[in-house]
Amino acid sequence: MTDQQVHDVVGVGLGPFNLGLAALLDGASADVDVVFLEREPEFNWHEGMLLEGTTLEVPFLADLVTLADPTNPHSYLNYLRETGRIYEFYFYETFQTPRREYNDYLRWVVDSLASCRFDREVTTVEWDEKCECFEVVACHPATGERFVYRSRHLALGIGSGPQIPDHLQGHPETDVFHTARYRHNRERVLQADSVTVVGSGQSAAEVFQDLLERQVANDYRLDWLTRSAGFFPMEYSKLGLQHFSPEYEQYVYDLPQATKDEFIPNQDLLYKGIDPGTSAEIYDLLYRRSIGGDRPDVGLFAMTAVCDIEPVGDAYALDCRQWQADETFVHESDVVVLGTGYERQVPDFLAPLADAIAWDEQGRYEVTPDHRLDIDVPGEVFLQNASVHTHGVGVPDLGLGCYHNTKFVNRLVGEQVYPEDTNTVFQDFSLEQFCEHAPGASRTGGREPIPTHTQNDDS
Ligand SMILES: Cc1cc2nc3c(=O)[nH]c(=O)nc-3n(C[C@H](O)[C@H](O)[C@H](O)COP(=O)(O)OP(=O)(O)OC[C@H]3O[C@@H](n4cnc5c(N)ncnc54)[C@H](O)[C@@H]3O)c2cc1C
Ligand SMILES: NC(=O)c1ccc[n+]([C@@H]2O[C@H](COP(=O)([O-])OP(=O)(O)OC[C@H]3O[C@@H](n4cnc5c(N)ncnc54)[C@H](OP(=O)(O)O)[C@@H]3O)[C@@H](O)[C@H]2O)c1
Repeated sequence: MTDQQVHDVVGVGLGPFNLGLAALLDGASADVDVVFLEREPEFNWHEGMLLEGTTLEVPFLADLVTLADPTNPHSYLNYLRETGRIYEFYFYETFQTPRREYNDYLRWVVDSLASCRFDREVTTVEWDEKCECFEVVACHPATGERFVYRSRHLALGIGSGPQIPDHLQGHPETDVFHTARYRHNRERVLQADSVTVVGSGQSAAEVFQDLLERQVANDYRLDWLTRSAGFFPMEYSKLGLQHFSPEYEQYVYDLPQATKDEFIPNQDLLYKGIDPGTSAEIYDLLYRRSIGGDRPDVGLFAMTAVCDIEPVGDAYALDCRQWQADETFVHESDVVVLGTGYERQVPDFLAPLADAIAWDEQGRYEVTPDHRLDIDVPGEVFLQNASVHTHGVGVPDLGLGCYHNTKFVNRLVGEQVYPEDTNTVFQDFSLEQFCEHAPGASRTGGREPIPTHTQNDDS
């Protein structure tokens, strides 16, 4: 099927970021013609992790539209109003929405938008010189039917995919699988004699908690191994959270790329790590289980990389290394759940555009300050959640979705439809801003470099 119309934008992928763009464009009463293509048959947000009791890591105000336009009909509060739950939410008195409800809210928005198409997996995108537009080819994953769309601009919103290290791959999916598939495989897990969860990000923590709660009824040994230095919390203090702001993003963008490559991977605890609430619930459950001298059939062991997995009979042997003590050991388990994180890859469907795209030395996208791909064709490519290397840790944060989409909408419409927020935090990240705000501060000329950290060094 060829859609003869040349759309203003074709969106590839429909997660919260592209859905936010669709919702903000719909509310902009601007004449922008869009279509969003999603490979799944229906909308679901990280379906394999929609666990009972889990919540968003951001307040409900970070919905698809509110931080840009609180009057937009696609807001979370309007969802509550329209679905008859606004008083229930009022008495709930909790900022963090249950993840299952956030998913229901997103599905409600999808149902109200005419621009969303499902069962459309994008397979190639190229620039058509003759009609001066992108040609986007998609196929129906089940039937193979082919669809062709044309558009002046693209919005790439394909998110990230489960990251399973190569050496841990190749085992039956029911026995060794990523947390992203947890809900699909949980019945199998509950029948095992022993289960091991790997990793100590929020995904692994939520799976461990779910398995701990079900352990007594199902009677299995439960172990939790992580390569991280400990079962540490992610940052959730108010001043720390200001790193997820337009100002911090701009500060990071302006730094030399070599500096960014050095510090961004070391900012793990700003966005990795365990929610302090989840950590407390796990601890409290272990405490209650140990009353009266009982010992829960559980093991927690950090600083341990799982280096290999080998089948042994009906179970698996995990080759592990405690990296600090430099000791190796083997750990056997019937089932292994890998909470080893997510990765972003350059999608194969961009191959026809490879020569037009500007790549950095490490083969990553060159990106403009407002999250567009640096590409040598007249059309724009709006990048969702694919510029951590240029803009830092705020990029995947749902709280910045409205800010990024505001920039895209304003550029598409050619006027300021939504305000582009500035001065959103109480601290300064760049020296230029600090000097602007602090009367006593002024730049000095070149000086001898001094150490950036004070160290207790007795030598
Ligand atoms: C379990 C989990 C919970 C999270 N919770 C939070 C949170 O509370 N707060 C927060 O700030 N961040 C959270 N994050 C981080 C992040 O914000 C989310 O992952 C968010 O879903 C990213 O949105 P996205 O739109 O970039 O991509 P995704 O939500 O991953 O959606 C991308 C979509 O693109 C589709 N797609 C991919 N390739 C194609 C193709 N070729 N053709 C068509 N469609 C395609 C996929 O099927 C998918 O539906 C969480 C992440 C995870 C994994
Ligand atoms: N409720 C929520 O809102 C929610 C729920 C789930 C996820 N999320 C978000 O989604 C993002 C991804 O979270 P995530 O938990 O999936 O992943 P993650 O935060 O990237 O954590 C991955 C973990 O796996 C460990 N690991 C990787 N390879 C290993 C190996 N071979 N052996 C042992 N351990 C290994 C990592 O250790 P190292 O530290 O050494 O790398 C790390 O502890 C985060 O931003 C998170 O906040 C949010």
